[in-house]
Amino acid sequence: MSGTFLRCLVLLIALWPVLGLGQEPVFENTMAERTRACSHCHGKQGRAGPDGYYPRLAGKPAAYLYNQLLNFREGRRHYSLMTGLLEPLTDAYLMEMAQYFAGLNLPYPPPTLVAATTPAQLARGKSLVTQGDPQKKIPACISCHGDRLTGALPHVPGLLGLPRDYLNAQLGGWQTGQRRAHGPDCMATIAAQLDRADVSAISHWLAAQTVPADSRPQAQGPVNQATGQANARGCGSAQAPARSNAVVSSGPATSDLSARGAYLARIGNCQGCHTATGGASYAGGRGIETPFGTVYTSNLTADRESGIGAWSPDDFWQAIHEGRSKDQRLLYPAFPYPSFTQLSRADSDALFAFLKTVPAVKQTSWSHALRWPYRTQTALAVWRALYFMPGGNVSKSGPVSVASRGADLVNGLGHCGTCHTPRNMLGASRSALDLQGGMLPMQRWYAPSLRDRQEGGVGDWSLDEVSRWLQTGVSARGVASGPMAQVVLHSTQYLSDDDRLAMATYLRSSQRSSTVPAPQLRASGATLERPPPGTVTNPPAGSKRPLGADLYDTFCKSCHGEQGQGVPDAYPALAGNRTVTMSNPSNLIQTILWGGYSPATERNPRPFGMPPFVLNLSDRELAALSTYLRSSWGNLSAPVTELEVSQAREKP
Ligand code: HEC
Ligand code: HEC
Ligand code: HEC
Ligand code: HEC
Ligand code: HEC
Repeated sequence: MSGTFLRCLVLLIALWPVLGLGQEPVFENTMAERTRACSHCHGKQGRAGPDGYYPRLAGKPAAYLYNQLLNFREGRRHYSLMTGLLEPLTDAYLMEMAQYFAGLNLPYPPPTLVAATTPAQLARGKSLVTQGDPQKKIPACISCHGDRLTGALPHVPGLLGLPRDYLNAQLGGWQTGQRRAHGPDCMATIAAQLDRADVSAISHWLAAQTVPADSRPQAQGPVNQATGQANARGCGSAQAPARSNAVVSSGPATSDLSARGAYLARIGNCQGCHTATGGASYAGGRGIETPFGTVYTSNLTADRESGIGAWSPDDFWQAIHEGRSKDQRLLYPAFPYPSFTQLSRADSDALFAFLKTVPAVKQTSWSHALRWPYRTQTALAVWRALYFMPGGNVSKSGPVSVASRGADLVNGLGHCGTCHTPRNMLGASRSALDLQGGMLPMQRWYAPSLRDRQEGGVGDWSLDEVSRWLQTGVSARGVASGPMAQVVLHSTQYLSDDDRLAMATYLRSSQRSSTVPAPQLRASGATLERPPPGTVTNPPAGSKRPLGADLYDTFCKSCHGEQGQGVPDAYPALAGNRTVTMSNPSNLIQTILWGGYSPATERNPRPFGMPPFVLNLSDRELAALSTYLRSSWGNLSAPVTELEVSQAREKP
């Protein structure tokens, strides 16, 4: 045994250079490359992290993995680091990832037997799994998970090869409601019947079993003798994704009012704000955090009581144009009516006509959680007297030039200024500082000035580059990330050719030479858990390279390149990248902490991803790494301090 092992080792060492091991990984345009952000935690090829905390993905049924990805994105399972990665991706792409991992047939490691297990406990576990306990209404696990416990297609996972801690956590999660599946949630019912001793017996026994050589899930769920149906068929599962998020192709030329409204709703991202995580489209209930408390979005479906089913086009126009509800209540500017007020009546009517076609959903209403005095209508009236003018201050006369159509889109429907214009103490955008950049309220992201070439200005990009960036979120100069990835995903990718050209033209022309000093770095939260495999290696003693350089080589070089040059159309260059060099380092820190994918757009449906490093790097290391990036390869920006990093990890 050990002789064989030694021989293999010798052979491996001899073949090391031939196999290309230990050399720079070569970029390949594959799913393995696209899911490197996942293998960062889930282990190479998704074969699980070493300590059982990060579950195995390889070989599990594709429909099961796909369901889990939807569950994480829609709030039925919770792990914020994964949710953040999945947010800008489409269902179709998640399915492709699921299929990729499902197709990997890798050997399992040998089982682990925990010393404290008693034979009685193991016997109880075995009997529950294979026979269930009719008295306690516990079905045999094998009736759904397959005789060999390797799972059943399409969507029942295997139960072997999972660590005991993981099994305990999942069954416990169902008992407390922390983990949910698509309804009907069979596992929630089953877990509710298990007491602590049962859970422990089951997980001990399961974790001690050897996974059979053929660990693939069986073809179909076993058939229930009584009903003649496959047992697990009644258990909830997600539907297969539509091929893609269909583009609303109706450009400005359409005569169909509601089709035009659907297009405008996309550009205004009404759905993004008016849909709660995992909730029905346009039914509202998403909480928008502001410095004054939380404001909940309204139900825009045609329900007569809780939605806008009883509204007239005039009522709707009053809301869009004047920020007043049907019952005359003044609305909070978390609803971007200070921008939407620039819309024409025709556009408002089109939006209304479209919303009438959205299926009605009844909703209980939420009351905003605002602090006094901000929750009073008087405070709002004062705010509006100071900062709000219906119709804005744009004059619309004469023929509409391409650039002025672009200005309307940016300042009106696109409401780009809600993020890109700095806010004063009362939360109002200061129009004198139009698009000059600002920290997002309650977030640690900085929306760069769109007028300054050092920040987000695109005056020196070609028209084609800007246009492609709006459509795909990626360019050779930088990628749309964090909150901006959402804007590209839900809004700008759908701009018609004419509107995209207009927006790009306006953005290129709106450069100013003066800049405002970058606002103070603000901070907010992170939930820290166990660091993923392959964590920090300290630089060798006596090495003269700066810490940041060693960290770069360890964690970043394999994607972003020896010289920070990146890989075209996959990994952005960091040399000359404004996210790296901008005087405000917030976005740089956010990107390294949380990683992310570029948005999965119609034109770039399978983007590459970056793993989160929040669990790998201390504040000191992250500051050193950022400072290194800001002073290498021709980058010449001020260092990042440990304090700035620690603030960026905290809650606001
Ligand atoms: C920061 C570490 C981390 C990263 C990065 C990460 N995951 Fe996970 N993933 C986890 C953890 C931890 C769990 C288990 C959470 C729980 O206990 O419910 C998990 C669970 C899952 C599950 C459910 C597994 C099961 O058997 O139920 C799937 C599927 C999954 N991840 C896919 C992915 C994909 C795809 C990516 C890349 C886009 C990814 N993960 C990136 C940490 C990570
Ligand atoms: C009626 C069918 C059915 C029965 C019986 C059943 N399961 Fe499940 N089980 C499922 C389905 C379906 C899923 C996938 C749920 C999802 O999509 O999240 C699942 C998932 C699981 C998971 C999550 C696996 C992972 O990788 O995260 C565990 C653990 C589990 N079952 C344990 C058990 C145990 C233990 C028993 C017996 C006491 C049992 N199940 C009996 C249908 C069943
Ligand atoms: C940035 C988030 C955001 C976006 C984008 C957004 N809304 Fe809203 N909207 C809100 C919030 C928050 C409220 C609730 C304000 C309040 O109750 O005072 C609201 C309220 C409304 C109301 C008033 C409903 C009522 O019952 O009084 C209408 C109508 C409305 N939005 C329409 C739209 C349309 C149409 C779009 C797209 C063109 C849109 N919204 C985009 C956040 C948003
Ligand atoms: C698995 C490949 C991979 C690794 C490893 C990786 N990145 Fe990235 N990185 C990406 C991808 C893909 C993007 C673009 C997606 C996005 O928006 O986050 C990106 C984006 C960035 C950006 C933002 C660029 C922009 O234009 O906005 C910065 C800064 C960055 N990475 C720094 C780092 C640092 C520092 C490390 C090491 C700690 C690192 N990356 C490790 C793949 C990687
Ligand atoms: C929800 C807040 C938000 C909204 C709304 C928003 N942005 Fe951004 N934008 C950001 C953030 C944050 C960044 C910095 C991250 C990045 O570089 O992707 C950014 C970056 C940018 C950049 C710099 C790109 C680069 O690579 O240097 C441009 C250009 C831009 N946004 C244009 C727009 C336009 C046009 C709109 C309106 C259609 C818009 N933004 C709406 C938050 C927002």
